[in-house]
Amino acid sequence: MGFIFNNLFRRKSVSAITDAESHSGGLHRVLSVRDLTFFGIAAIIGAGSFSSIGSACYSGGPAVIFLFMICAVACGFTAMCYADFATRVPASGSAYTYAYVSFGELAAWIIGWALLMEYSIGNIYVAFSWSGYFVNLIESFGLHMPVWLTNNYSDSHQAFIDGTASKLSEAWNTAPVIAGVRFIIDLPAVMINILVTWLVYVGTKESRNASNVMVIIKLAIILLVIIVGATYVDIDNWTPFMPNQFSGVMAGVSGVFFAYIGFDAVSTLAEESKNPQRDLPRGMIYSLIICTIVFIILALVLTGMVSYTALNVSDPLAEVFAMKGIKWMLFIVSIAAVVAMTSVILVFQMGQPRIWMAMSRDGLLPKKFAEIHPKYKTPAFSTLITGLVVGIPIFFTTPKFVLDFTSIGTLFAFVLVCGGVLILPRNMDAKEKGKFKMPYINAKLIVPAITIISFIIIFYNQASMIVNEDGSYNIPMMVFYLVWIIIAIFSFIKNYSLIPVLGLLSCCYLLTGMGWTNWMMFGVWLIIGLVVYLLYGYKKSKLNVG
Ligand code: ALA
Repeated sequence: MGFIFNNLFRRKSVSAITDAESHSGGLHRVLSVRDLTFFGIAAIIGAGSFSSIGSACYSGGPAVIFLFMICAVACGFTAMCYADFATRVPASGSAYTYAYVSFGELAAWIIGWALLMEYSIGNIYVAFSWSGYFVNLIESFGLHMPVWLTNNYSDSHQAFIDGTASKLSEAWNTAPVIAGVRFIIDLPAVMINILVTWLVYVGTKESRNASNVMVIIKLAIILLVIIVGATYVDIDNWTPFMPNQFSGVMAGVSGVFFAYIGFDAVSTLAEESKNPQRDLPRGMIYSLIICTIVFIILALVLTGMVSYTALNVSDPLAEVFAMKGIKWMLFIVSIAAVVAMTSVILVFQMGQPRIWMAMSRDGLLPKKFAEIHPKYKTPAFSTLITGLVVGIPIFFTTPKFVLDFTSIGTLFAFVLVCGGVLILPRNMDAKEKGKFKMPYINAKLIVPAITIISFIIIFYNQASMIVNEDGSYNIPMMVFYLVWIIIAIFSFIKNYSLIPVLGLLSCCYLLTGMGWTNWMMFGVWLIIGLVVYLLYGYKKSKLNVG
């Protein structure tokens, strides 16, 4: 029994990981720090900025910018942890590989399983949003697709049941019936997935070139949106600034956090970057800073142009210009959205196979997942499977479902990455020129002091939020307080490093914004993952000596 237990926590050494990669045939090392920063931006600015920002503005009002700031802080600290790991373990696999060397195999598997939500399930949301703007775009050329070919089945069915008059119910009512089933699919979402899968299959260099061009286009157009939009800002729209209290702001956490997801995808490109130890951290942090500035300005412009109450739509950036009657901007926004989201899908579709490749090399997935295409030098089989994992659910899931699922899975992975940095022995090496080294600030007194002061303020002001408006207990918040106290105690005992502690706590705080149903679904997902691990990876692991 003890043996089995120990096996679950068997760890991989850093040298074993880097050795395995250097003997595996390897990928092309073509990416520079600029490419990596562009890759970060390519992954970050997408459906979050063009779609989910709308509902977050609607629930939080202009004060949603506070949520953008909180998420930026959480992601910033987490990026430093990713950067620290990327320097110590310059290998593909991202958080998965990092967990393998810090927490051991079981946690590594769980992270790999959770990252599937970030990379593949997240792409389903982006594909749905892409489709919405694509349809806007072709309609501006006078081309119309039948609504049953541009909407998803589940939402259409629900709209029909609810009796709401919308495109969704129209899709249900007009769809052809084949063998007793209404034929409703989001065809553009399926098509973009096929196109990107092909692009990723044929090569990194080609994908990189396409991605860099797309980033330049999307940044230029977002800048235009901000400049033109700013001239229509009416500051009266910023009053009240926080119409639904702080709980309204926090209600947008899935959407806002989703907007930030992507900086970490840079870490999956370790094997393809020219100098991973120097460039990966820079790429992550630069892209995060640029995007944070863009998001905050964008949120202020949107909530300044129209009342926040008008923003609960799937295409808010188009909606604000439509409401102001600026038709030419509608067209430009649709192009920018399509381009931006294509690059997001591209980056994540490149990231997922690389994580699987790392897992396969460790024996946790079949060998086929690590096979590199002799001509294209890409993980070909994994790339195709990723295409299927993204493509098939498009037929039966809904954007809301995948958005929540992605955000909770990603936050969970971030928590483990920050925790992993705390667990690894502190990097005592002198800082080498050009390499990232996490600044060590002793959390011993700072964190307990912050904790005590915060708790006094929170409870004195009766702002603990441990009881919901309906009188029920807010269990995620209670768990968060408990984790906070435990971390403060451990910081005191173990002299933890401040940055990962703050990263861990801020990500845990964001997790409190996820509803119960999300937690339950996530729990089921983890249990399925555990069963798969015990049936396959546990036995086939390269570290298996039994
Ligand atoms: N941050 C990425 C997006 O918003 C996932 O599309």
